[in-house]
Amino acid sequence: MLTRRNFIAKGTIAAAGLASLGSAGSLLANAAKSVQNQAHVSQEISGPHSLRAHASHNGFIFGSAVIVRSVQSDPEFAALVREQCGIVVPTGELKWKALRPSRDQYDFSRPDYLLGFAQRNRMLMRGHTLCWHESVPDWIKAEENRANTRQLFIDHITVVCKRYAGKFHSWDVVNEAIFPKDAQIGGLRKSFWFEQMGPEYIELAFRTAHAADPQARLTYNDYGVEVDNEEDAERRRLILDLLHDLRKRNVPIDAVGIQSHVKAGQTETFGKGLADYIESIRQMGLEVYLTELDVNEDDIASADPAQRDAIIAKTYTDYLRVALANPAVKALLTWDLSDRFTWLNDGPTHHRKQPDRPQRSLPFDSDYRPKEAFFALRDSFDARKLHS
Ligand code: XIL
Repeated sequence: MLTRRNFIAKGTIAAAGLASLGSAGSLLANAAKSVQNQAHVSQEISGPHSLRAHASHNGFIFGSAVIVRSVQSDPEFAALVREQCGIVVPTGELKWKALRPSRDQYDFSRPDYLLGFAQRNRMLMRGHTLCWHESVPDWIKAEENRANTRQLFIDHITVVCKRYAGKFHSWDVVNEAIFPKDAQIGGLRKSFWFEQMGPEYIELAFRTAHAADPQARLTYNDYGVEVDNEEDAERRRLILDLLHDLRKRNVPIDAVGIQSHVKAGQTETFGKGLADYIESIRQMGLEVYLTELDVNEDDIASADPAQRDAIIAKTYTDYLRVALANPAVKALLTWDLSDRFTWLNDGPTHHRKQPDRPQRSLPFDSDYRPKEAFFALRDSFDARKLHS
């Protein structure tokens, strides 16, 4: 297998060879997409050339979600994370099911490991997530515990936030609370938490988290707000209503997460809807984090890998042109860094639109080599033009 490092070295040689051919070399490079890609990856990508450094030069923090096990067991991947990330978040290890195997047990081993890794490497860490409709353990749903849900909820948030108090950059306190199809007040999702506690569970989560960790930036995180269509417009309206209501009642909230699971090959565009949404959040005095960026390629019709890569890269560029334009945006994380670990390939393949084609949604391929998407991200960071 060609490792990431010797691939980069080979790319350098290929690029040097083309350069020595002068203009004929550049013609060749334009003609052969794969060769052009090799020349592209020959560029330096570490230190001042990393995503982390380019983001920091342009006023925000770049990082990624990671599966903690992959950092623990794969030194090459750990090195990639160190090289590229200024912030990390565990994809699942801080969710209820992972932390709470039973009512009396907390398992902090994996998030503790990631925090140590982040601290040793001068990275920040986010927490994800204290409250979500998924990852609700069966034991808490059991009849005998239901009467105590509110207290179990408060205790959980208190214990978890206290453990990491002063150490996390931010917490996704409530995740994905809006789901208009459930036809509840305020477009709220009929989650287990909602059914048990009513709409107040959101406020309760924020107040409890703030009491336990007054320093972390407390974040409301949600999806489905990115494109200019009616469905996303409704979700944006409902989330803004929720935020206004929380602000009005002095609920401690500092930031809004835009998940940014975007799709390539769509007719819908990123534009005014997203820009206005971010601006409305800024006007409330809140920060914005793009928390889970990746590009789903299932709607791309072409079977040609080079064309698909170019469309994926352009999707990143188009999205970030709008999403990074507002100075309220202070952090951007991809949902994992390498295609080897993307959640879009989880589960049975027949659930996917293109089951024969594993998703390649991230800046690094499954052998940790940078792809066009990496360069699209980095160029978008540099192209960031802040409107005031
Ligand atoms: C995903 C994880 O990546 C998967 O490993 C897990 O099985 C399910 O959850 N929105 C979120 C994240 O807020 O928590 C989800 O993470 C992806 C969608």
